[in-house]
Amino acid sequence: MSIACVILAAGLGKRMKAGYPKVLHEICGVTMLESVVDTARRIKAEKIIVVAGKHIDLIRKSLSAEDISFALQKEARGTGHALMCARKELGGFKGTTVVLNGDAPLLEHETIRKFLRLHQRDRNSLSVLSFKANDPSGYGRVIRDGAGGVASIIEEKDAGPDQKTIREVNSGVYALNGEALLLLDAIRINRAKGEYYLTDIIAEAARRRVKAAAYCIGTEEEFMGVNTRDELRRASFLMRKRIVNKWSERGVTFIDPGSVFVHAGVTIGRDSVIYPNVYLEGNTKIGRKATIFPNVRIVNADIGAGVVIKDSTVIEESQVRKGASVGPFAHLRPGSQVGDRAKVGNFVELKKAVIGKDSKASHLSYLGDTRIGRGVNIGAGTITCNYDGTHKHTTVLEDGVFVGSDTQLVAPVKVGRGSYIGAGSTITKDVPPGALALSRTVQRIIPGWAKGKKIRGKPKK
Ligand code: UD1
Ligand code: CA
Repeated sequence: MSIACVILAAGLGKRMKAGYPKVLHEICGVTMLESVVDTARRIKAEKIIVVAGKHIDLIRKSLSAEDISFALQKEARGTGHALMCARKELGGFKGTTVVLNGDAPLLEHETIRKFLRLHQRDRNSLSVLSFKANDPSGYGRVIRDGAGGVASIIEEKDAGPDQKTIREVNSGVYALNGEALLLLDAIRINRAKGEYYLTDIIAEAARRRVKAAAYCIGTEEEFMGVNTRDELRRASFLMRKRIVNKWSERGVTFIDPGSVFVHAGVTIGRDSVIYPNVYLEGNTKIGRKATIFPNVRIVNADIGAGVVIKDSTVIEESQVRKGASVGPFAHLRPGSQVGDRAKVGNFVELKKAVIGKDSKASHLSYLGDTRIGRGVNIGAGTITCNYDGTHKHTTVLEDGVFVGSDTQLVAPVKVGRGSYIGAGSTITKDVPPGALALSRTVQRIIPGWAKGKKIRGKPKK
């Protein structure tokens, strides 16, 4: 079956009370629209058309994909009008047009496939996907005729008290072939709302004996439309649960699944353990047997197998290689790389810092614009002075260097292989390999100097 997908995304989304379009709200790190586009791709739509309104440029930018075309709906004059606006982009398309709503992000592609199989099996011109809602309010109700066929869809606003009790509702997913698209021309404006309702094509099909059906498949959760902040929160909750379940089925342990936030684009290896209050965001990858302790946020980072991320650590756009350990209270800023089995300890901040295999920065350091070789020891309190007020400069520490505690490395500076830096030094010049560099003032001793002074801290008898 050849499929074109039209995604309706031009609504104003007034109920969100937002300064930007509704469909650009994110659920688990992905905009609602992106989720729907992903669904369209999964049903192998050969054409994807997004109908957008006055925010079309924002929407175009948010997707930036070549396989999508855009249709402008200048004014939000209803779902029926939105589909009309996509006609030009559809051109002479002869296959099945599938309509999806940009504000229904939980939709699963398997359900649409099933729906399309029924549409094809029954050789309909028009099919609509419906579901049974526990609370149907807000949705269009599916009105069936005496024979069980679909007669019309009545929107909440236009429904009488009896119709309001109907629990079979419209999901907003439709399949249309040839003549069904022509029904759009027959839609009249709805006086109550001043909109052209796409749902009106159902009654029109019945009137003109165009073969139509409604299929009540799928679960209520899946079709949830997001119109308000409260619904956004509920949809996020459901999506979160779905994602965590998926990874736990694939062998990941979550100590407290309800407090973990995993974005849709994240992958987690088998036998990894995720503690409470962990945020895994963007396209983060976690390898096998990794442990992520509580209160950690990892954004677009690559975490290798067996890595341990200790409590209260933030990692952004960085790489931590296998067997390494980071935290507690560490901050890896973008462009950092922690090598195999390396250790980054508490209160250490990295920025564009590459740390070689088996190297250690265990306590209280800032390492920025730094390249550190293998087996390097960074003493407590080491600071790279990478910024001169105008430019950033690089510090290079070659393999096997030992940096004593409380050292400042004033960049640009290079410390050669195997050399030592004495504690408390300010290093401003390159250090050759194998040397010892020291820059502190020589210690003086004045014997008896304290005589006659009150001795402090003298233990009481
Ligand atoms: C719509 C359906 C309703 C269904 C529900 C499912 C109509 C008249 N009603 O109601 O039967 O139960 O979806 O969630 O179709 N849009 C445009 N242009 C417009 C108006 C809307 O592109 O002028 C887009 C919106 O961005 C949204 C989608 O169409 O993605 C649905 O619009 P919305 O206003 O949310 O419709 P509902 O009232 O939820
Ligand atoms: Ca809606």
